Amino acid sequence: MLELVDINKTYSTTAEAVCVLDRINLTIESGESVSFMGPSGSGKTTLLNLIGGLDKPSSGKVFLNRANLASLREGELARLRNTQIGFVFQLHYLLPQCTTLENVLLPTLARRRSEIEKNQAHKRAVELLEKVGLQKYHHVRPGQLSGGQRQRVAVARALINQPQLLLADEPTGSLDADTAQQIAQLLLELNQTEQVTLIVATHSGKLARQMQCQYRVANKQLVKIEQKKQ
Ligand SMILES: Nc1ncnc2c1ncn2[C@@H]1O[C@H](COP(=O)(O)OP(=O)(O)OP(=O)(O)O)[C@@H](O)[C@H]1O
Ligand SMILES: [Mg+2]
Repeated sequence: MLELVDINKTYSTTAEAVCVLDRINLTIESGESVSFMGPSGSGKTTLLNLIGGLDKPSSGKVFLNRANLASLREGELARLRNTQIGFVFQLHYLLPQCTTLENVLLPTLARRRSEIEKNQAHKRAVELLEKVGLQKYHHVRPGQLSGGQRQRVAVARALINQPQLLLADEPTGSLDADTAQQIAQLLLELNQTEQVTLIVATHSGKLARQMQCQYRVANKQLVKIEQKKQ
């Protein structure tokens, strides 16, 4: 479902050009779970941004379901991001003035919807909040939630449009071990039950090892560390 071909990413600042990723090739099949580990600054977030179409490679191509992201117009790319990809960021970016339920529904507001579609989205948001164990928190605002609960809202929001691909950047970074494990379990369960392809960037070896396929990002390269048997 995802293919990276000879990706190079060089950031050009006023002073110098810094190459972060060089000749990256990667194929991920639909439904797989994948982890990227590697030192701080090695390019994990950069890689997720390229995969998710939030940033463009300096050279090379990203194919999502055979569509070359570089060949899409900005509007088409935005639509693809909104409908096919879910993002969970380390800083979860929940809107503080909106309730839990409203935050989960945010990605559904990007385009005009019929009443029927709105009702379906609402039903799915309620189901997702139940799945992440927040059924009692629909009308609570992020400020009144713990870090782990906010992260679970972010996971539910990432899945509201039924994406095929879920990108999670340090989803357990700021959480204690038990809460981190709960989020890890939740991501893997959603990977299984929703058949969503899962890619996580993390510093947690424990989280990384729970994915089918583990990669290491270092020295501008991507190296496969382990592929579990099905
Ligand atoms: N917008 C940008 N402009 C210039 N340089 C950038 C930009 N974004 C990232 N970089 C540089 O690219 C390198 C990789 O950054 P990236 O955020 O991808 O690392 P990371 O592996 O996610 O690190 P961490 O584990 O700390 O999250 C870093 O050296 C960083 O300074
Ligand atoms: Mg990062």
